[in-house]
Amino acid sequence: MAYITLDGVSKQYGSVWAVDRVDMAIDKHEFVSLLGPSGSGKTTLLRIIAGLETPTQGRVLIDGEDVTHLPPHRRGVAMVFQEFLLFPHRTVYENLAFPLRMLKLQKGEIAERVDWVLGILALRGLEKRYPNQLSGGQQQRVALGRGLVGRPKVLLLDEPLANLDRELRQEMEVEIRRHQTALGIPFIYVTHNQEEALSMSDRIAVVRGGRVEDFASRTDIYDRPKTAFIAQFVGRSNRFEGVAAQASDRLAIRGEGVLIETAARPGIGEGDNVVAYVKNEKVRLKLAEPGAAAGANTIAARIRHVILRGAYAEYVLSWSGGELIASRPRDGAELPGGAEVTAYWDAADVDLFAQAGGDQ
Ligand SMILES: Nc1ncnc2c1ncn2[C@@H]1O[C@H](COP(=O)(O)OP(=O)(O)OP(=O)(O)O)[C@@H](O)[C@H]1O
Ligand SMILES: [Mg+2]
Repeated sequence: MAYITLDGVSKQYGSVWAVDRVDMAIDKHEFVSLLGPSGSGKTTLLRIIAGLETPTQGRVLIDGEDVTHLPPHRRGVAMVFQEFLLFPHRTVYENLAFPLRMLKLQKGEIAERVDWVLGILALRGLEKRYPNQLSGGQQQRVALGRGLVGRPKVLLLDEPLANLDRELRQEMEVEIRRHQTALGIPFIYVTHNQEEALSMSDRIAVVRGGRVEDFASRTDIYDRPKTAFIAQFVGRSNRFEGVAAQASDRLAIRGEGVLIETAARPGIGEGDNVVAYVKNEKVRLKLAEPGAAAGANTIAARIRHVILRGAYAEYVLSWSGGELIASRPRDGAELPGGAEVTAYWDAADVDLFAQAGGDQ
């Protein structure tokens, strides 16, 4: 039995369906991300789980109980926001004690729980400081502590790291995931940042236009995108358009200046307009051999420039069809800017989709 169930949940604002028939089942020990572009309905979905919005249709169940019409404080959920929302004129201790005072707990119990949170979040010694005397990461920890101090059954987080710089964000990602594992409660984490979703989640729900386009393990979302939108949105890919031709168990896709070959897919046949994606890290490069014939899954290209990204390098290539990007680990064998190269990839690394109306 799932710990959290969303059953046909929708939310209408005027003529907009911000959330549209969402079904999800989340287990007790899961870290789940809702990943999608701006305006896709992530915050609305989270607020429905929190009880800050009532769904127009559908039900929300937490721990076996239908909470659809329960107010937030009776659901056992807590929410952490992007804007830390700390009280500026109260100390760290007072900020952490506040939710417990709302719950009308005894003084001793409050002290005990605040101390527990100060301990797990490494905030001991900072109790008497005010928010403006803390670093961004410390402020974020206090905000997280305010969510955890009431010992919620579920923690909901809405882009909590969006205001932090990259390095601090990456540290906090590790920390947040560690707390989730230690506490053994589900965290539902909203973000439009695929790196955050990929670094922390057990499963990722990709949200688009109020709908959950796929809800699957992070590796499935990354390695086996179910839709063209997911292929485009998660990871960095090269995109090709073409027309499919069937050859027994294989498909040949003729695009402008490129021939792509890959395994046949159900639902894609002779003459269909298709879109193919090849992730940047799947594109390999070798120096061009004069006179070599271009086969399937190869492109003759020229290195325009190389972007160093630390552990790997991104090669920006030009070819007759436009631009192509290949990323490679920096293993010493760097190719020079300006070089003529052959870019190539495996048939298995092609993500292929029928071009439906509405896909860009
Ligand atoms: N209170 C509201 N009244 C009317 N429309 C709303 C309201 N809240 C959200 N919407 C609309 O619902 C849709 C989804 O909004 P939501 O805030 O859930 O998106 P989001 O995925 O969280 O986006 P972002 O990444 O920008 O935070 C948007 O079209 C938004 O304009
Ligand atoms: Mg939002």
